[in-house]
Amino acid sequence: MSKTASKPKKAAAKDKAAERRLVPIFVMGKRYEVPDTLTIQKALEYAGYLLVRGCGCRGGICGACGTVYRFPNSYRIEVGLACQTVVQPDMYIAQIPFFPGNKAVYDIESLPAVGGTIAALYPEVFKCVGCGTCTRSCPMDIDVLGYISKAIQGDIAAVAEGSFDCVMCGLCAARCPAEEVQFNIAILARRLYARHLVPKAKHLEKAVKAVQGKAYDKALQELKKKNLDELKKLYKNLEAEPDMADESWTPQNKSYLGE
Ligand code: SF4
Ligand code: SF4
Ligand code: FES
Repeated sequence: MSKTASKPKKAAAKDKAAERRLVPIFVMGKRYEVPDTLTIQKALEYAGYLLVRGCGCRGGICGACGTVYRFPNSYRIEVGLACQTVVQPDMYIAQIPFFPGNKAVYDIESLPAVGGTIAALYPEVFKCVGCGTCTRSCPMDIDVLGYISKAIQGDIAAVAEGSFDCVMCGLCAARCPAEEVQFNIAILARRLYARHLVPKAKHLEKAVKAVQGKAYDKALQELKKKNLDELKKLYKNLEAEPDMADESWTPQNKSYLGE
């Protein structure tokens, strides 16, 4: 490569480097320099980490990437989802692969959908001191204290609706001084609500019957016979659901849906 030819390239690389300012972060105490445009998750990968736990959807939905961080000269422990939080200089980062919270064992079919059920399975709900730390910790902006108050009152529907956006990241429980496991209390309410209180969704019932009637078995068998390249091609050509589709959207080609 000639010198004259490489000059513009060098200049472009310099411009690019200037655009991507490097900032120091600390992962489990070790210092790395990473571009300041990256999320914590991408910064970890940039630093050479292979994410085998604490990473799922990368889109703020699965709740797998709960992260705790702090800045020097600040006593505050801050929390966020690693796939959604952009790095800042001097962040001290530790990821929580999962939160080992108390989880009641129950059979949802026989569980009574009455107010006292939540308290019977999670009596610690009454230990809530109303501090609001859970609400301040929630990356989904859920009024966690609000739904815990409804759980204390035994209002299953209000807990189910109030916690609907919960991604089970565990950050609320990690910070709770009363050792509540808010997300497990919430999912109990959503299960009770869905199983016993709201009318069955007709379209879901139809879909379950189709699965039980083996409507998709032939299509699945055919997929299993395909190699990786064929699967990639199929996926690429798949009729994607538009971002703003309403609930009535269905693909035009329904042959593989058994219809
Ligand atoms: S953090 Fe715990 S104690 Fe504080 S409001 Fe939330 S549930 Fe109650
Ligand atoms: S309620 Fe708790 S577990 Fe659910 S998203 Fe908010 S912080 Fe995460
Ligand atoms: S990886 Fe799923 S929420 Fe972050």
